[in-house]
Amino acid sequence: VEILTTFQPCSPLSNTHIEAQYFYHTTAVLRDGDTLTVTPSVSELEFRTERKVPRLGVMLVGWGGNNGTTVTAAVLANRLGLTWRTKTGEQKANYYGSLFQSSTVCLGPGPDGKEVNIPFRDLLPMMHPNDIVFDGWDISSMDLGSAMERAEVLDWSLQEKLRPHMSHLRPRASIYIPEFIAANQAGRADNVLKGTMAEQVEQIRADIQDFRHSSGVDKVIVLWTANTERFCDLTAGVNDTAKNLLAAIQSGGEVSPSTLFAVASILEGCAYINGSPQNTFVPGAIELAVERNVFIAGDDFKSGQTKIKSVLVDFLISAGIKPTSIVSYNHLGNNDGMNLSAPQQFRSKEISKSNVVDDMVNSNPILYCKGEKPDHCVVIKYVPYVGDSKRAMDEYTSEIMMGGTNTIAMHNTCEDSLLASPIILDLVLLTELCQRVCVRPQGSETFQSFHSVLAILSFMCKAPLVPPGAPLVNAYFRQRACIENIMRACLGLPPQNHMHLEHKLQ
Ligand code: NAI
Repeated sequence: VEILTTFQPCSPLSNTHIEAQYFYHTTAVLRDGDTLTVTPSVSELEFRTERKVPRLGVMLVGWGGNNGTTVTAAVLANRLGLTWRTKTGEQKANYYGSLFQSSTVCLGPGPDGKEVNIPFRDLLPMMHPNDIVFDGWDISSMDLGSAMERAEVLDWSLQEKLRPHMSHLRPRASIYIPEFIAANQAGRADNVLKGTMAEQVEQIRADIQDFRHSSGVDKVIVLWTANTERFCDLTAGVNDTAKNLLAAIQSGGEVSPSTLFAVASILEGCAYINGSPQNTFVPGAIELAVERNVFIAGDDFKSGQTKIKSVLVDFLISAGIKPTSIVSYNHLGNNDGMNLSAPQQFRSKEISKSNVVDDMVNSNPILYCKGEKPDHCVVIKYVPYVGDSKRAMDEYTSEIMMGGTNTIAMHNTCEDSLLASPIILDLVLLTELCQRVCVRPQGSETFQSFHSVLAILSFMCKAPLVPPGAPLVNAYFRQRACIENIMRACLGLPPQNHMHLEHKLQ
């Protein structure tokens, strides 16, 4: 789909870029006692989006895990147009669960007044997931065909069709520091780098360069989908600044493998996304990314229970109902569950899952006094039998009118890696698009890119990382509207406001 807006660019760049003039409307609010002064303002911006979609390479840390094998298999199956028999009939490869591939956006009404919807991916020139070239690292040396079998995610008949395409894929040796992940992972660590921390970072950088050259891709994005690590201690002089972090790597201080990968990627100019809950992005890593003008994003894929929470609590609080207790139980039997059965790794996940309602609670001082929060409890148990088919059970208790109580209980069978895989694709495709967008404020000579902390990816993350001072948004539809409206802005289109005034006036 080629979208032509009525704004006609006249610059010679228009063949290579989509250029759009945009009026950004905001309101500023000043409080003086009980009086609020609200001032609308508008600023003029020029958005410029490069049309040419590059060949993208994605390197996964934890490539041999459930998510790593499932996303690689799903892309191969889609690329090859595979179909396979299941007990209920023939199944065809698809990208359900991907915001860009499988959801639509409304452009506006057509001449008959009916809304015109198009695939989200067609708003702007975007890479198609079928064209991604994968590579990666794992502490387990198992080839991707066998690792897919170990994951027990995909139907057997599909695995048989995919195995010839997966067996020759082998993860590169990785950085393994046993104290960061659960001791129960030691048994699979047979593919690990040797040498000092600094030498291992150099090897990861060499791997990225090797992949870039041997595959012929134009761009590489690195994404962590390896085991959840324990939180890293934040220590002045070690990881508080970019300089100190680089020095700590040289001297062998407290630096987690995920931060070492982040540093290697940033030094290679590759965007780095963290799909797990740990604090990979210590202040020094963020500073390094900003200094080098490289995108970073995270943390922790928002795939199942938390995704629903960010919809349900938004609905309750915005409807004027007061959630007072949110209790979330999970049990899962995959390797992620086994790793999370260790207290320090569970703690990382608990922290990541527990702040997701804060923005919604803080937005409503009618329901919540200052500092008041609902009781919020998260429990995770390892139950091997259920495998990758994670169960999430939630109970939301809310106060309703006149002292009444409303309780919603929910049982969610998640198929963990099949929910996470399309999110991995959305994360890398949106990051890649953002690398081609720049903005020039009115009066400025130069175009600027998005902030290195790529907060637009919040939609796909449980614990979004945002630039210092920026509002942290967890509410699902606000996050989605943010992506849609920024992409519309790149086309010079106003935000989707859902007012439908043309149908509401006499
Ligand atoms: P998994 O345990 O199947 O895969 C992780 C892989 O990472 C394993 O193959 C392991 O050998 C490897 N690994 C561990 N440390 C490594 C290192 N230092 N370098 C390279 N490889 C290393 O787990 P799964 O299910 O694929 O999940 C991956 C991560 O994504 C976990 O941290 C999980 O908490 C997170 N996540 C998963 C979600 C989901 O599946 N729905 C949702 C949110 C987060």
